[in-house]
Amino acid sequence: MTRILFATSEVHPLIKTGGLADVSASLPAALQELGQDVRLLVPGYSQVLDGLSDKKTVATFAVFPGQPEVRLLSASMPNTKVPVYVLDAPQYFCRVAGPYQYHLGGDWPDNPMRFGMLSRVAAMLGSAGSPVDWQAELVHCNDWQTGLAPAYLHLEKSAHARSVMTVHNLAFQGNFERDWLKLLNLPQHVFDMHGVEFHGNLSFLKSGLHYANRIVTVSPTYAHEIQSTEMGYGMQGLLTARKAHVSGILNGIDENEWNPATDKHLEVRYDDSDLSLKTRGKLALQQRLGLEVNEHAPLLGVVSRLTHQKGLDLLLECLPALMEGGAQLVVLGSGEAELERRYQHLAQRYAGRVSVTIGFNEALSHQIMAGADIFLMPSRFEPCGLNQMYGMRYGTPPVVRRTGGLADSVINANLPEGTGFVFDEPSAISLQRTIKWAIECYRDTKNFRRIQLNGMHHDVGWKHSAQLYIDLYKTILNEPAGHI
Ligand code: ADP
Ligand code: GLC
Repeated sequence: MTRILFATSEVHPLIKTGGLADVSASLPAALQELGQDVRLLVPGYSQVLDGLSDKKTVATFAVFPGQPEVRLLSASMPNTKVPVYVLDAPQYFCRVAGPYQYHLGGDWPDNPMRFGMLSRVAAMLGSAGSPVDWQAELVHCNDWQTGLAPAYLHLEKSAHARSVMTVHNLAFQGNFERDWLKLLNLPQHVFDMHGVEFHGNLSFLKSGLHYANRIVTVSPTYAHEIQSTEMGYGMQGLLTARKAHVSGILNGIDENEWNPATDKHLEVRYDDSDLSLKTRGKLALQQRLGLEVNEHAPLLGVVSRLTHQKGLDLLLECLPALMEGGAQLVVLGSGEAELERRYQHLAQRYAGRVSVTIGFNEALSHQIMAGADIFLMPSRFEPCGLNQMYGMRYGTPPVVRRTGGLADSVINANLPEGTGFVFDEPSAISLQRTIKWAIECYRDTKNFRRIQLNGMHHDVGWKHSAQLYIDLYKTILNEPAGHI
């Protein structure tokens, strides 16, 4: 049994902007199931404080010298009972709006301090001077928000934990002005190419990539892709130099949360024994969203952040042709203002055929996953992607581009064991052709059933991948110290 601290800036169902929250809930639960002593560390946003009923203060201390004291609370996660430490510093985390941004979409200007503190506390919990009666042997960091933890651990004089840095998205790096170094109590000597410096800035992600004992990405293909100039976002040199310490472990999904037979957000639940019940959900969804109620119209679904990464501008280009073919589209998402505007415009133009909901809506995301016939995910890059796996589990085969975790999780429908529809070129024409192919398959009920059932039976759970993480922790903990 290893003592693991899983440090993260978001976790479902307390606070979520994307897949990181899902993984932060489901991976620790799977590790716990496999006998590990795993605990979470999360910031005390208002939503987190409100969502945890059994909080108690376990420590009070200053994170950086001369700063006012903060509290560390302990509680357990609502569904899984995984223990969680909450960094309670209301002046930093109890704010109206998102965890990283204020309402107008700009980043909170003190993000380096907010997530510097989170990183520092993660390192403290992995050090001999841990403020609580528990010391992690392994600190598992996730994305840039916890990327300074491996640097703080490296600088720690006392016996301390080793670290893993999981990269969920290399495009988000947490790069800030050099002046923050002092405020975050980091010595000048770490501001080096072989340290936290990245193009003259302090980079939280670079810190994690440099100082962590191992780097993991959320799919094997993405681990390979980010070592290239095109997809390395400037980190490819470091990633290539450390390639022996870089690996990819495909995310799993929470099979209780995402199960069409038990899903609390669905009016009509179903399983692989009777997919006519899925059609009833489709009709209900069409009705509720003001779409023409028509069992035979292929209903395409999208639930996504509306950003360049997700390739949804390509869908806008080919949509008129798809509409001519009789398809319907339901979109739930939020993000870039321009994309939001273009999608809303489309919903007006194709009233009754296209429904667009701008915003974040957990229940609707489940209802779309269940009610749509085909799920669309034409991402330009995708470190892993969870929605394609939810789609497969719900008998809603995904259309995906062959990149990152999409390439690793979806089997193309031209193979007997196919679970979805895969294309290569990030272009509107390739996407259009592939959606047309998916719609043709949909009209050939027997063939489509095969693809649906293959997907529903495909293993998308955590068991295998959580074991790979445990094996990795063991390897790291058995190594002699001082690899960096
Ligand atoms: P990413 O983390 O890059 O956004 P993933 O596919 O890994 O992509 O995970 C996205 C998660 O966020 C999924 O659980 C998805 O259902 C959810 N999601 C994205 N947009 C919305 C939204 N507008 N409303 C509800 N859930 C959403
Ligand atoms: C990121 C990635 C997404 C991945 C998720 C969880 O948000 O964009 O591909 O599934 O993290 O690892």
